[in-house]
Amino acid sequence: MSRLKLGVLGSGRGSNFVALATAVAEGKVAAEFVVVGSDQADATILEEAKKRGIPTVVCPKGNYRTKLEEQIEEGLAEQLGKAGVELLILAGYMRVVKEPLLKRFKGRMINLHPSLLPAFPGLRAWEQALRAGVQETGCTVHWVNEVVDGGSVIRQMRVPVREGDTAELLHARIQEAEHTILWEVVRDLAMRKIPWLQDPRAK
Ligand code: GAR
Repeated sequence: MSRLKLGVLGSGRGSNFVALATAVAEGKVAAEFVVVGSDQADATILEEAKKRGIPTVVCPKGNYRTKLEEQIEEGLAEQLGKAGVELLILAGYMRVVKEPLLKRFKGRMINLHPSLLPAFPGLRAWEQALRAGVQETGCTVHWVNEVVDGGSVIRQMRVPVREGDTAELLHARIQEAEHTILWEVVRDLAMRKIPWLQDPRAK
């Protein structure tokens, strides 16, 4: 079977994209990147994509901070569609996804979230965990639907909260787990070891 065509959206550093790209380059994942996109023109994730020769797209920021205007998201969805994305991966993409992306990538869009959902949805989940005083948190890969951080869970990894943890220390420990869980899920989706909500190659 040919390689699964991946699109990634991110708004920042892109360490999860780099970890996934490394696993792909090492031949651990039967996939290839067809596009990396961002709502932030200066995001490091775009530099990381360019270094690897992967096409990039940037959309305008628009007037809201937490979501894109419908027209802008429609344009982004269109570009991702044209690039041939089969699986869309949200890796540090900090906008709430709306109808244009949801419709086009229904059942084939996943998100990485830094907590054990349903605990601590939303922003800065590691800080929420620290404030709540839990002894354990983690990360989740889930299907994306219209409920923010509410789609069905594909896989989770647990991460301990340690005595004296700061937000930075805890987030770094969660990110270590993220750097494994994401490529493992993509590998298993590419091999159909995980059932798709909507298989892009289903006849
Ligand atoms: C990751 O920790 C990811 O879980 C989180 O942003 C970080 C991006 O890091 N995403 C969210 O909080 C989404 N709500 P990266 O840019 O280095 O991959």
